[in-house]
Amino acid sequence: MKRILSACLMLACGLVLAASSSTSPVLPNASPHQSVGTVNCASSTCHGAVAPWTGSNVQQNEYTTWSRLDKHAKAYAVLLNAQSRSIAAKLGLKNGAENAPECLDCHAHNPPPAQRGERHMLSDGVGCEACHGPADKWIRSHTAPGATHADNVAKGMYPTEKPVEQAKLCLSCHVGDNSRFVSHRIMGAGHPRLSFELDTFAQLAPAHYKIDDDWHKRKGDYDSVRLWAIGQALASRNQLDALADPKRGRDGLFPELALFDCHACHHPMSERKWTPRLGVGPGRMRLNDSNLLMLRAIVRATDPAGANAFSAQVAQLHQAVAGNTASGTAGRSADPLALASALSATIQRYIDKLEQQRFTPLMQRAVLLGLIDEARRQQFSDYAGAEQAYMAISSLSSSLAKQGALGGAAGVAEMNRKLAALRVSLANEDAFKPDVFASGLQGLSRTISLQAN
Ligand code: HEC
Ligand code: HEC
Ligand code: HEC
Ligand code: HEC
Repeated sequence: MKRILSACLMLACGLVLAASSSTSPVLPNASPHQSVGTVNCASSTCHGAVAPWTGSNVQQNEYTTWSRLDKHAKAYAVLLNAQSRSIAAKLGLKNGAENAPECLDCHAHNPPPAQRGERHMLSDGVGCEACHGPADKWIRSHTAPGATHADNVAKGMYPTEKPVEQAKLCLSCHVGDNSRFVSHRIMGAGHPRLSFELDTFAQLAPAHYKIDDDWHKRKGDYDSVRLWAIGQALASRNQLDALADPKRGRDGLFPELALFDCHACHHPMSERKWTPRLGVGPGRMRLNDSNLLMLRAIVRATDPAGANAFSAQVAQLHQAVAGNTASGTAGRSADPLALASALSATIQRYIDKLEQQRFTPLMQRAVLLGLIDEARRQQFSDYAGAEQAYMAISSLSSSLAKQGALGGAAGVAEMNRKLAALRVSLANEDAFKPDVFASGLQGLSRTISLQAN
C-alpha cells in the first residue's frame, strides 16, 4: 500500500467508449487455446525492442518494459523467496510455493498442462499470455498486413481494452474470483492483504502501451473514471459471490474471514472502535464494505432515482450478516446468502449500465463530493474503506485535473497538498485514526466546490 500511496497522485489518464460485449470471453487461464510462452514475443523486431518504435501502431518494446520494470515479470520469483517459503511451510505445501497451484494460479500463467506449449514457462510469472490470452491461434496472424484487433480477439486474444473485461482480468488475481482466491488461511500464513483499485493500479503498472489517437481508432474510447467505477462494482460482486459460494464462503464453523473487515477482529481489546454506522450492533463481525461504499457513491451520482433502493439493499445485507432481526419480522432475520446473491444481481445490472456511462466533469465532481459527504457521516471508520476513498479521490481528481476542471495549476497544487496530508493518515493501518482521516477529507470539499464556480 505504501508504494501505491506514494505513486498515485495526479497521474495522467485518457478517455472512451468501448463497445459492449455480447458474450463474455473466458479469462486467459481458462481458455481452450495453447499458450506459446513469453519468449515468443521477445524478439527485438517483435515486442523486445529497446526503445519504442516510431511508425508502428504499438510500441514494440513491451517485452523490454515488462521484463525490466513490471512486477508481473517477478511474480513467480516471489514464490522462491523467504516469505513464500515461510507461507508454504505454514500451510503445509510439501513441494513449496513454486509447485503449488494455490500460489501459481496468480503468480504465474498457469493453464492446465494440456494447454501449455513447449516453450511455455511457469517461471515467466505473469507473462504476456496471462493477460492477452493464449497465442497459438493468433501469434502468426496478428502481425499480418490488414489484421484487425477483432480478428485477433476472434482467435483467442483477450480483449484487455474493454473496461469490464479488463476489470475481470485484473480483479481475478488482485481481488480473487471463483478461479483463484487468497483466503484468510493464506493471509494467516503471511500473505499480504490484497488491496486494489483498478484505475490506480492500471496507472501504476509501467505502461507498455500508449492510449493515443491511433489506439482510440483501433480500440475505442477510454475513461479512467468509468474504469474505476466498474472496478468497484465488480470487486463488490466478487466479494458477494464468494460469500454466497458454499465452497469459498465457508471455513469450518466460520464464514471465510477474508471477506470481512480485518480490523473488526484485529485490534487491541482496550481500543473501543465500535460505531453504529452500518446499523450493526456491537460485538458483531462486519463485511469489508470498502467497495460497496464506493459503489454507493457511484450509484448516487449516476442513478439518483435508484440510490435509496440500492442503499437499502446494502443495509439489509449488513444487518442480515450480523443476524439483526428486521423490525416486524417476529424475531427471524432474512437469509444473508440470499440477500448477497440478490445484491450481486443488482450490481450486475449496474455494471451493464456503467459500461455505457459517460462520466462528465459535473458527474465526477458529484461523486467526489458524495465521497466527502460519506466522511461527514462517519462512513470511513474502517481502514479498507478509507484506503479506497483515498484512491478514488486521487483518481477522480487527477481526471478532473486533466480536463482542466480543477481550477488550473493553483487548484491542482492545493489538491495535491491536501491529498499528501490525507495519505499520511493512511500510512500505518494498525494505527489508523478515522477522525483524522475524515477531517482531512472534509478539508477537500472547499477545494473541489470552489472550482465548480
Ligand atoms: C488470488 C491471487 C493470489 C494467490 C492465490 C496468491 N497470491 Fe501472492 N500475491 C497476489 C498479489 C496480487 C500480490 C501483490 C499484492 C500487491 O502488491 O498489491 C501478491 C503478493 C505476494 C507476496 C508479496 C510479494 C512482494 O513483492 O512483496 C508474496 C510473498 C506472495 N504473494 C506469495 C504467495 C504464496 C506463497 C501463495 C500461495 C500460498 C500466493 N502468494 C497466492 C496474488 C495472489
Ligand atoms: C498484467 C496484464 C498484462 C501483461 C502481463 C501484459 N499486458 Fe500488454 N496490455 C495490457 C493492458 C491492460 C493493455 C491496454 C489495453 C489494450 O490495449 O488492450 C495492454 C496493451 C498491450 C498492447 C497494445 C498496445 C496498443 O496500442 O494496442 C500490446 C502490443 C501489448 N500489450 C503487448 C504485451 C506484451 C508483448 C506483453 C508481454 C511482454 C504484455 N503485453 C504483457 C495488459 C497486460
Ligand atoms: C495472473 C494474475 C494477475 C493478473 C491477471 C494481474 N495481476 Fe497484477 N500482480 C499479480 C501479482 C502476483 C503481483 C505481485 C508481483 C510481485 O510482488 O512481484 C502483481 C502486481 C501488480 C502491480 C504492482 C503492485 C505493487 O505493489 O507495486 C500492479 C500495479 C498490478 N499488478 C496491476 C495489475 C493490473 C492493472 C492488471 C490488469 C490489467 C493486473 N495487475 C493483472 C498478479 C496478476
Ligand atoms: C472474524 C475475525 C477475523 C477477521 C475478520 C480477520 N481475521 Fe485474521 N485472524 C483471526 C484469528 C482468530 C486469527 C488466529 C489468531 C491466532 O492464531 O492467534 C487470525 C490470524 C491472522 C493472521 C496471522 C497472525 C499470527 O499471529 O500469525 C494474519 C496475518 C491475519 N489474521 C490477517 C487478516 C487479514 C489481512 C484480514 C482481513 C482480510 C483478517 N485477518 C480478518 C480473526 C480474524
